[in-house]
Amino acid sequence: MRIRIDYTNMLSSAVGSRGLCEAELAARIEKAGEAIASLRAKRDMIRWRELPYNQGEIVKEIKAVAEDVRSRAESFVVLGIGGSALGPIAVQQALNHPRWNELPKDKRNGPKLYVEDNIDPERMAALFDVIDPETTVFNVITKSGSTSETMAQLLTVMRTLLDLYGEEHLKERLIATTDREKGNLIGIAKKYGLTTFCVPEGVGGRFSELCPVGLLPAAVCGIDIEAMLRGAAYMDELCDNDSVKENPALMYALLETLAMEKGANIGVMMPYADSLKYFSDWYAQLWAESLGKKTEGRRTGQTPVKALGVTDQHSQVQLYTDGPFDKTVTFLGVENYRNEFTIPHAADENPNVAFLSGHTFNELISAERRATEHAVTVSGHMNKTILLPEVNAETIGQLIMLLELATAYAGELLRINAYDQPGVEEGKNMTYALLGRPGYEKKLAEMEEKTSRMTV
Ligand code: PA5
Repeated sequence: MRIRIDYTNMLSSAVGSRGLCEAELAARIEKAGEAIASLRAKRDMIRWRELPYNQGEIVKEIKAVAEDVRSRAESFVVLGIGGSALGPIAVQQALNHPRWNELPKDKRNGPKLYVEDNIDPERMAALFDVIDPETTVFNVITKSGSTSETMAQLLTVMRTLLDLYGEEHLKERLIATTDREKGNLIGIAKKYGLTTFCVPEGVGGRFSELCPVGLLPAAVCGIDIEAMLRGAAYMDELCDNDSVKENPALMYALLETLAMEKGANIGVMMPYADSLKYFSDWYAQLWAESLGKKTEGRRTGQTPVKALGVTDQHSQVQLYTDGPFDKTVTFLGVENYRNEFTIPHAADENPNVAFLSGHTFNELISAERRATEHAVTVSGHMNKTILLPEVNAETIGQLIMLLELATAYAGELLRINAYDQPGVEEGKNMTYALLGRPGYEKKLAEMEEKTSRMTV
């Protein structure tokens, strides 16, 4: 059971002159060997590619810790941001009940999950309104071990737990996921003897879903993490293929980078499934942070936009059909949804309403996706569809690896470093400066010098 990309509508034969010309694509396919070779040469550096293969022992540990948490916790709270939060959110939404936290305990195969990826004080206060610290386990996740947002949350939670239960009981309630050596969290974890999982070297934040960052929260919520890794391994092997037509990640990257050259500065991702809604958020970080770069006098990148089918047909699709030719749309389709409803026959005999009766919601949402694909295509806009036979742990593992590798190949084709994020680091440094972290006094002075406000 594998996911496939239908890219017919990226081509000029489908969308007309604004599409990619087949000869042009063929020429790029000819040259794609370079991208395959350069990515293979980085294999030792991009260790996230090995995660489906090298975590046998870690998975055992994760499952043991998850079992313990499941046996005693009512709530599991992830403290993290960016790559330390978006994957856990996307996977939970994809693979568990859409109203997981609202389900009664006996219908929920694990504790409630809260992923706190913001520091809005109202949200922080609200968390403490809905959880009981007595029955909550926290998982603080930060690869760098120093992100201000996550450390502020950690300090808040630690103060509460230390006041309530004392130092010796902290380890029952707090788990750390961080770098083996770097950063401030590892020291705290050692001091209090916390159960600690490591983000392996060569696994950047936005590429970390398939390591303990994502696997622990998933396992705590009863998700089959081994199946996710199997799906990812399957896709990794497929995407190492020398033949571009058999290598979906490389084809994805070629299509998007060619489209960027034709002015598609925006990449919309539009899943037709609530279960995949937060994959657009996860992908937005992956695509934006990896490809948005300034290098050798060039600037690269494509702005990711999130949309949800069918909801945003009634909000954004007008722009995607009649608006400027500055975007591509990637639809995510599902062949078989996990629930089915047949639209019943009700009192109304009006044929303009009654035609719906007897059809299933599955048929309706699929028809609406195909109708939107068609509308976008006939209006001349490039689009493609990633089709999942169904949403399950294996296909989600495939989707994660597919999009990670597509991003990596796009990095090679654009000749940039897809694995750093100097712009994000600059923001982090400015925050340290503003809040008085020692060593950042010069940054603060620089910032104050440049700041003159225009207000109205
Ligand atoms: O992809 C990245 O590396 C970043 O976006 C990080 O995920 C984000 O900044 C959070 O960093 P950390 O996990 O170190 O707290």
